[in-house]
Amino acid sequence: MKRVIVFGATGGIGQAICQTLAADGWSLYLHCNNNVDGASEQAQKLMTIYPQQDFMPIKFDFLSEKEQLSKFVNSLLPVNAAVFAQGITKYDFLTKQKIADIEKIIQVNLTVPIELTKLLEPILIKQEYSRIVYLGSVYGGQGSALESVYSATKAGLSRFSQAYAREVASTNLTVNVVAPGAVNTPMNAMFCKETMQEVESEIPAGRLAQGKDISYWVKCLLDKNSSYCTGQTIYISGGWLL
Ligand SMILES: NC(=O)c1ccc[n+]([C@@H]2O[C@H](COP(=O)([O-])OP(=O)(O)OC[C@H]3O[C@@H](n4cnc5c(N)ncnc54)[C@H](OP(=O)(O)O)[C@@H]3O)[C@@H](O)[C@H]2O)c1
Repeated sequence: MKRVIVFGATGGIGQAICQTLAADGWSLYLHCNNNVDGASEQAQKLMTIYPQQDFMPIKFDFLSEKEQLSKFVNSLLPVNAAVFAQGITKYDFLTKQKIADIEKIIQVNLTVPIELTKLLEPILIKQEYSRIVYLGSVYGGQGSALESVYSATKAGLSRFSQAYAREVASTNLTVNVVAPGAVNTPMNAMFCKETMQEVESEIPAGRLAQGKDISYWVKCLLDKNSSYCTGQTIYISGGWLL
């Protein structure tokens, strides 16, 4: 049985990733932070559709439970893959942001994923083949004003994964970033309708991405046959920005 842990399984993109991977035969850990009910409901639904696979909701706060990372990883059944689809941002001028908020963005988006990667590696490389995918962003390739810290974390993920992929390239573990453009999810709920319409009008493909536009590429990178693709950042943006 192939099993993946999807961090941020309750997010707009995370939910689509879980649906796509479940349809592709994966058993899942559905990670959440606050939305325990959402993760449990999603697991129940998938269990009904795919009764031969396992679907386990799992809660872990990348901020308040940071000291428990080893315990968390040691409690897992073996996994073949990890997908990091959690993430937070704050939209404001840098001078208006509190230091505590800046630290939170860096921790949730970059530091904890790197620490989890370190702890997961011994488990992953024991499998016949293994995969890591981080959700980056077009803003990791081209910084966005008012999201400078977020942009920095996404750029950090791209360079981290490129370097780390080279460290583990001789094993069966591939490491990549899927970097979306603008996706229709709760992360963009802070923007008014007019702002989102303006963004949409700038996207050459003429529309925002849906979750499944992103989850398709995560599925491809997790496939057994994608073993020669590693260290890459793949921009999925409808031709926008990058
Ligand atoms: N939406 C876009 O336009 C877009 C564009 C480019 C890149 N991305 C990236 O794609 C990924 C998914 O985005 P999304 O739009 O699906 O986001 P979302 O709908 O806002 O979901 C965010 C996810 O992160 C989890 N999370 C939040 N704080 C956490 C914490 N302290 N510890 C652990 N998990 C935490 C949430 O868990 P709970 O629900 O349980 O609280 C949720 O599952 C992110 O990395 C984002 O940066 C998104």
